[in-house]
Amino acid sequence: MNHAMQGVDITQAIRTRRTIKPEKMNGRIIPEDIIVDLLSQADWAPTHGRTEPWRFVVIAPGRVKEFATRHAGLYKQHTDPTSFTPEKFNKLVMLGENTSHIIMAWMKRVPNHKVPAIEEIAATSAAIQNILLTATAHGIASFWSTGGLTHHPAMKEEFKLGEEDIILGFIYLGYSDEPFKEGSRMIPLSEKIEWIR
Ligand SMILES: Cc1cc2nc3c(=O)[nH]c(=O)nc-3n(C[C@H](O)[C@H](O)[C@H](O)COP(=O)(O)O)c2cc1C
Repeated sequence: MNHAMQGVDITQAIRTRRTIKPEKMNGRIIPEDIIVDLLSQADWAPTHGRTEPWRFVVIAPGRVKEFATRHAGLYKQHTDPTSFTPEKFNKLVMLGENTSHIIMAWMKRVPNHKVPAIEEIAATSAAIQNILLTATAHGIASFWSTGGLTHHPAMKEEFKLGEEDIILGFIYLGYSDEPFKEGSRMIPLSEKIEWIR
């Protein structure tokens, strides 16, 4: 375990993890060994049939702005001019402004699969949550986004993914000067649970 994680218990990491967007980040670069730690924690997600379907593309600091601009360009290219908005275009560009690293997380569909796709998506999502929790333990701000062109075929093409592979999102990572805010939930926990006794 990376030493920065010692002393952060699992409950604390779960409860204090918050979505913190790049506009709240300060541009400080995350050391690469911490990024490697996030990814190695991701690799311990549960996996049905031991397919280990999670895959990651790490966009390093020197390439983050370029990617954000490319994402905005894809949005412009693939959006009908009647629904295109410069606000959304600029928002996509700005996602690269204070971000240290972006991790694109995708599910690799194994050939001749027996495991249903939904389970591979579930396993990859569990791996992503490991990244978010480990980031929190390191005091790193994170934002799991499926905005922009995330689910557009053009994005899959951009990363040369197979037809059955699925992009689960972009994880924007960085440091923030602001303390992690209190979270809020709209639906009481009791409404989400049914006990069978
Ligand atoms: C699969 C997934 C996709 C998300 N995509 C977006 C997004 O595109 N834009 C956004 O503002 N937030 C996105 N979020 C973050 C949620 O808005 C956020 O988790 C929610 O507001 C709860 O806040 P918390 O993460 O601080 O608990 C996404 C979350 C998940 C799980």
